[in-house]
Amino acid sequence: MEFYASNTPLLDWSGDALIIGLSEAALPLSTTLAELNSRVSGLLQELIDEVEFTGKDGTTAITRVGPGASIRKLGIVGLGAAEAITADTLRRAAAAAARLAKKEKCASLGLSLPMVHNDAALTAQALAEGVSLALHQDHRFKSDPKASKVTLEQIHFLGLPDQKASLQTAQAICSGVILARELVSAPANVVTPELLAQTAQDIATAHDLELEILDQEQCEALGMGAYLGVARASDLPPKFIHLTYKPTGTPSRKLAIVGKGLTFDSGGLNIKGAGSGIEMMKIDMGGAAATLGAAKAIAQIRPSAEVHFISAAAENMIGGNAMRPGDILTASNGKTIEVNNTDAEGRLTLADALVFAEKLGVDAIVDLATLTGACIVALGDDIAGLFSENDELAQGLAAAAAAAGEKFWRLPMEGKYFDGLKSIVADMKNTGPRPGGSITAALFLKQFVNATPWAHLDVAGPVWTEKESGYNNPGGTGFGVRTLVQWVLAE
Ligand code: BES
Ligand code: MN
Ligand code: ZN
Repeated sequence: MEFYASNTPLLDWSGDALIIGLSEAALPLSTTLAELNSRVSGLLQELIDEVEFTGKDGTTAITRVGPGASIRKLGIVGLGAAEAITADTLRRAAAAAARLAKKEKCASLGLSLPMVHNDAALTAQALAEGVSLALHQDHRFKSDPKASKVTLEQIHFLGLPDQKASLQTAQAICSGVILARELVSAPANVVTPELLAQTAQDIATAHDLELEILDQEQCEALGMGAYLGVARASDLPPKFIHLTYKPTGTPSRKLAIVGKGLTFDSGGLNIKGAGSGIEMMKIDMGGAAATLGAAKAIAQIRPSAEVHFISAAAENMIGGNAMRPGDILTASNGKTIEVNNTDAEGRLTLADALVFAEKLGVDAIVDLATLTGACIVALGDDIAGLFSENDELAQGLAAAAAAAGEKFWRLPMEGKYFDGLKSIVADMKNTGPRPGGSITAALFLKQFVNATPWAHLDVAGPVWTEKESGYNNPGGTGFGVRTLVQWVLAE
């Protein structure tokens, strides 16, 4: 797929499909569009009338243009209220247009959408992201992928000056999102801790990053008892991944991104029962997938900050060697944990990963984890929870998320709720009462970070989707990658 941005007026473009974005304010047609309408013998107006098109966000229509014209099809995509158009409106409109062009068997698409914030670079990047992400399809596990003979090869963004750099940024970001999607969508018999480590190795080799993979013995030497307690019953060895991007020259900031990497979560001896969604627990490495996806993007974009990408990858299984409910584990910061529920395993792995991250002396730590069902109960499938006691970091992440078009909602770190994790025998239990379950999970993690600004993102809901929506397709969404990249670039 190739992207071009050029100032070509839409009247001069020739190719398979020309699709025009229309806000509610663009109707009735004026100037350029009225001229286009007369060039195509009134077909544009006819199409608008025929489908009673009002410019409503997300609506599309397309028609065949008669022989002799420079375009084969003419389409429209609604943008909603003109004053409410954001970068994400453009991403979703570009996604809708690309899906339509693909369905209509077009090899080339000319896309004419308005600029957002008067910023050609931002506009081109949003458009390219929308198209790439909407068209990505994952047929790896189908025996007969039924590929269409015609594929959309060339996409021209019309009415924008040349935008090589931002189109390249979009391409880097999408390669990271797609990596994260594919890691989440692949089953747990393919995506093992070993495969996550290999993926980190591939990124390191391709883009010249530093990589350290700690095996079980090395983790033992570091005292990572919480992480290793979780990994213990699996036949698959744990892999502690530490991938580092270093800019040339002195880094502007040092950051750490930590992702929960449970390649399968059976629940352990507190095994997940019927109706618990155990068959979906391949997605429990969604945080690690976003971390590696962000690494892949950042390694290509090469910003001025140094970034450490970390995941304590493991599988939560059962067996004679499994950690028992009630066992006491000691984490690498010396704190002891009474495991009152082996299904609250993510926080145990993150505990040691956070201690490791802080020892690197970074300026900020962000972790992403499919941590709690409670967060899905609170915020639904599309919105992630954001926890931080550092307002500046929380606001930085919120701004990055807004620009990226990913939804987060800040939830409170209510200190009093830590009472629910009090243990008679150890420093804390790993599970509190059901109410406020995502808050006690965040408070548990807090025990493993001292002074470094830190934010925790509970992404249990949005890493997976059952339905096509906007630029997402059913399966892994790659959620988090775009926010992380945006945040690192802004730091
Ligand atoms: N991986 C799950 C959380 C999860 C649930 C992610 C649904 C995605 C979809 C996590 O390890 C877990 O099992 N959490 C428990 C915690 C409880 C035992 C305190 C939960 O949410 O039920
Ligand atoms: Mn669990
Ligand atoms: Zn889990």
